Amino acid sequence: MRVKKTFNESEEIVVSKKEIRSFILNCMEKIGCDESHAQQLADILITSDYRGHYSHGIQRLHIYVQDVASGACDKNGTPKILKQKGSTAWVDGANLLGPVVGNFCIKLAVEKAREFGIGWVVANNSNHFGIAGWYAMHAMNQGMVGMAFTNTSPCVFPTRSAQKSLGSNPICMAAPATKGDNFFLDMASTTVAYGKIEVAEKRGATHIPNGWGADQNGVETNDPQVVLGGGGLQPLGGQEATGGYKGTGLCMMVEIMCGIMAGSAFGKSIRQWQTTDQTADLGQCFVAIDPECFAPGFAERLQSFLDETRNLEPLNEEQPVLVAGDPERGHMAMCDELDGIVYKKSQVLHLLKLADNLDVAMFKAKRLNDILACEGNESD
Ligand SMILES: NC(=O)c1ccc[n+]([C@@H]2O[C@H](COP(=O)([O-])OP(=O)(O)OC[C@H]3O[C@@H](n4cnc5c(N)ncnc54)[C@H](O)[C@@H]3O)[C@@H](O)[C@H]2O)c1
Repeated sequence: MRVKKTFNESEEIVVSKKEIRSFILNCMEKIGCDESHAQQLADILITSDYRGHYSHGIQRLHIYVQDVASGACDKNGTPKILKQKGSTAWVDGANLLGPVVGNFCIKLAVEKAREFGIGWVVANNSNHFGIAGWYAMHAMNQGMVGMAFTNTSPCVFPTRSAQKSLGSNPICMAAPATKGDNFFLDMASTTVAYGKIEVAEKRGATHIPNGWGADQNGVETNDPQVVLGGGGLQPLGGQEATGGYKGTGLCMMVEIMCGIMAGSAFGKSIRQWQTTDQTADLGQCFVAIDPECFAPGFAERLQSFLDETRNLEPLNEEQPVLVAGDPERGHMAMCDELDGIVYKKSQVLHLLKLADNLDVAMFKAKRLNDILACEGNESD
């Protein structure tokens, strides 16, 4: 992979995963968080950035810190199974960090899938769990098809509504093919995740595409600051004329599997984003399916399907057809080559304030120049 053209050394830095992990653990330790909980948070934030989903990586650390430090999210304890029947379970997330609840639930779903062919677990009383893909990936790594969903704070204007009542409720399915290849769909049910607009704004963008956001009255806007300053998101598809009602339907479908099924907060009753005066009480849903319960040869057939799709004649020779998970694979390969994660400086500046407030040393960045020099002339 050629890196020089992709990165701008005056604006970008590379940070090793080890440095990021220490920073997260040090911050969480300062606020008294259980170490294993902090480790689970670090795993998912690092994976998120490594996969290129900066919207849900370390840029969100201050929010988890704020939740735990304020007492809105509990810093130690264990989720509890409230009810189970065969392949299903209902879990009390005990108001712990979302990754702690999510890891507990997806492990339980995989155990059930091993026994019954499918495991379907829903949790209430949970918190923000980061990228849905992390949990689906756990099931996939055990040879299962994994799915994960969560509700989130209301930030979406349903089609025709001048009020926000839905979250950007993510949908994820990860399915194993052969030789480590897979289908990995992990997406907000809005045109973009809210965090993508935060990232765009931190990176200095003043214009976002149609279909992403709306002002405080639900009217489409291209200004990221208007979206972040009290506006909201449009459902996947954008306006009604471009199929936004299907995104509204998907947001609601996820809410039914999460908040409605789990008996947690749902829709407008979920607390506002970044507030800590009440618990989040999110609802989440985790599914594992053993493909061996169905026609033999799932992985091989999926591989042919992925290959067939990737090999379609592209519209533009320079842009091959991709399948879900390919953009993230490209990003991870780039990070591996640089032996760290690439950040825009502007994207991590706010963490200096966090480091200062908690009296924790800021992580150290490697300079891209040094890396390129070590790699010889890989860089044209
Ligand atoms: N916890 C929460 O509250 C919450 C809420 C919303 C989103 N999220 C997370 O945010 C992350 C980002 O979501 P997003 O919707 O912005 O992601 P995205 O739009 O970047 O990607 C969505 C999916 O599309 C695939 N994709 C992208 N380009 C493609 C192409 N050209 N061809 C084929 N497939 C392609 C990706 O591999 C990915 O699976 C996800 O990990 C999601 O779980 C979390």
